[in-house]
Amino acid sequence: MSNHPTQDQADGAPMPAADTAVDTSAGALRLRAELDAGLRAREACISPKFLYDALGSKLFEAICELPEYYPTRTEALIFERHGAEIARAVGQGSTLIDLGAGNCAKAARLFPLLHPAQYVPVDISANFLQDAVERLRQRFRHIEMNALGMDFSGGDWQLPDSVRRERRLFFYPGSSIGNFTPDEALAFLRRVRAQCGPDGGILIGIDLAKDRAVLNAAYDDALGVTAAFNLNVLRHANRLLGADFDIRAWRHRGFYNERMGRVEMHLEARTTQLVSWQGACRRFEAGECIHTENSYKYRPAAAVELLEQAGFAASGIWTDARAWFAVIHARAIRPGAMH
Ligand code: AVI
Repeated sequence: MSNHPTQDQADGAPMPAADTAVDTSAGALRLRAELDAGLRAREACISPKFLYDALGSKLFEAICELPEYYPTRTEALIFERHGAEIARAVGQGSTLIDLGAGNCAKAARLFPLLHPAQYVPVDISANFLQDAVERLRQRFRHIEMNALGMDFSGGDWQLPDSVRRERRLFFYPGSSIGNFTPDEALAFLRRVRAQCGPDGGILIGIDLAKDRAVLNAAYDDALGVTAAFNLNVLRHANRLLGADFDIRAWRHRGFYNERMGRVEMHLEARTTQLVSWQGACRRFEAGECIHTENSYKYRPAAAVELLEQAGFAASGIWTDARAWFAVIHARAIRPGAMH
């Protein structure tokens, strides 16, 4: 995301989250119920938000360094080349709300251009975020920072009153929007729109549709980092649910599904096996898969249309020379429907 979640996830509360052996907060219970339901489903699935426990967040950082994984580098290049123009479109002194902030590095690179009045990094991986914000506070002492440990992947999140209402600029880079289905993406953008205020907007990075070989390599790299990232979700499930997944009995699959316009990640059982958790037990046949992630790739016109449907109007689109990735700034134009 990234809608980065974890066992150290907080439930909309200001950080830091308490470190307890078994988290019984409403948020943690909801996460466990969601995980449990996905594992019981006929076609088993695990929401991609479970990819981001502390280790998963680090593995995702490593993915971003891989030669095959072009989105991070390409997006950074777009910000480097067009930063001044983007800053002119966006304006200065905003309340910069960084959704899925992770290590906060992307937003921090924009601080000298955007001079935000307040920086609000939001991430479900609360402890990971806390460390990143501590480091950032040392470097940018003049920017007010208000870190939030929160799951914003569902439909009911709300920014607390401590977030300034003026000139809210939601920053959603990295094509995390692609990890939602198009319907979910629309609902999510409407939710963002509803919290923008009249003078708000969004600065969003969106990965574009492209050659399948490029996509297949990006999501199944030679070093196996994406495989480790995907397999780590089973460790997370073991920890959250007390499950007994044997990591070695699963293999990573990552490929472009052209018909659906998305990259899919799955975990495939190498052998027939039984997996138990919290009183439940499921038999996985050899070759059976757990669907762990979709990563939708948009055409520019479809991305603009999606934003318009959510109540935004695009004011600028910047892409790289190969048109692999787009950064779009869009202003709020009418009250977003809350769904
Ligand atoms: C966070 N998200 C945008 C990444 C993506 O490309 O969909 C997650 C990822 N999955 C595998 N590699 C990276």
